[in-house]
Amino acid sequence: MDKKLLMWDETIFKDPDLFELDHVPEYFAHRDSQMQTLMYCVKPALRGTKPINVQCIGPPGTGKTTGVHKLFEEIENVTSKVIPVYINCQSNATRYTVFSQIYKKLFKHSPPSSGVSFHKVNEKITQYLADEEIILVVALDDVNYLFHEGEHDNVFYSLLRAHETNPGARIGVISILSDTGTGFHLDPKVESVFLPEVIKFPRYNTDEILDILDNRVKMGFFPDVVSAGVVEKVVEYADLLGDLRVGIDLLKRSGLNAERQANRTISVEDVNGAYESSKLIHLTYLLKSLKKEEKTLLELISNLEEITAGELYKAFREKTGLAYTRYYETLEKLLVLKLVDTNFTGKGTRGRSRIIKLRYGAEEIQKRLS
Ligand SMILES: Nc1ncnc2c1ncn2[C@@H]1O[C@H](COP(=O)(O)OP(=O)(O)OP(=O)(O)O)[C@@H](O)[C@H]1O
Ligand SMILES: [Mg+2]
Repeated sequence: MDKKLLMWDETIFKDPDLFELDHVPEYFAHRDSQMQTLMYCVKPALRGTKPINVQCIGPPGTGKTTGVHKLFEEIENVTSKVIPVYINCQSNATRYTVFSQIYKKLFKHSPPSSGVSFHKVNEKITQYLADEEIILVVALDDVNYLFHEGEHDNVFYSLLRAHETNPGARIGVISILSDTGTGFHLDPKVESVFLPEVIKFPRYNTDEILDILDNRVKMGFFPDVVSAGVVEKVVEYADLLGDLRVGIDLLKRSGLNAERQANRTISVEDVNGAYESSKLIHLTYLLKSLKKEEKTLLELISNLEEITAGELYKAFREKTGLAYTRYYETLEKLLVLKLVDTNFTGKGTRGRSRIIKLRYGAEEIQKRLS
């Protein structure tokens, strides 16, 4: 038997879990200042007072979800008087489902599925908090989904004014927004109670990506499976899209590619071969972070191979009723996110016109928009 070949029951992965995207890594580096601010905001809760509300904001794959999971682990290790509740708003996009999740965390079972009003659920929660002197820290992750459903003001208002339902009920809110621009607006009435400390999660630079992925490689693969050159290639791709997730996914897929050929080491070709698929992970999360009108515009572009900027504006206005400035801003955002590309044609009756083109397959985009 050739020792260079992997036996069917052998693997190059020492710890395959490290390459799953929902894994909370032990090594969480380059987020010290964000973690410090998070802890500072929650600290009042450890003394029995209301925590400071937080708004975490930053592009996909910058450690927002991971950072909050780390914080919550820490809270659960030190006290049972502060209960952290993590809510994924993509699957819980209404006030009722958000509060059902809180209820479930506190009482270890869901509220009865029919005939119970939101007010009953809310009352039971706030009563429990007041009686037991427990402080809640609620993380609303991917809060953009509440905006899509028009439920954001409702949810924030109910959480932030819990003490009005029941004096003694204290709830802090950590809102997590995947965003590459600025947009995040609550009703001014809600905003005036929310008053969050804003924590920015910027993109990782090349050195940081290298450091994080290098650690993943050391912990996740057996020695000598991944050479420095292969790590470099993975970092290059992750950096190209500015998304750490692509790097982690590339490591997993190229590892599987190597195993499929019974190789004991990963080659640069394995990485290249995995890139087309890993790139789509980036697309999935990127589309998740878009606002409604950005999704609409992208959908319009994806219906056609290419379209001139002028025709596109007409279609956008017809569909949304929005004016030119908003169209222009929205298109610019899609350009910045590298979702679309623009070119000038040689023709056009009144000079050259701008052509808009997709940078991903139309089908891949449409699948993820629906
Ligand atoms: N500083 C870090 N150290 C190690 N791993 C990290 C770090 N930051 C992020 N990761 C890893 O990158 C992946 C994406 O991170 P995370 O889910 O926290 O991103 P996010 O900011 O919540 O993105 P999104 O806005 O798309 O939800 C995860 O698999 C996580 O383990
Ligand atoms: Mg996240």
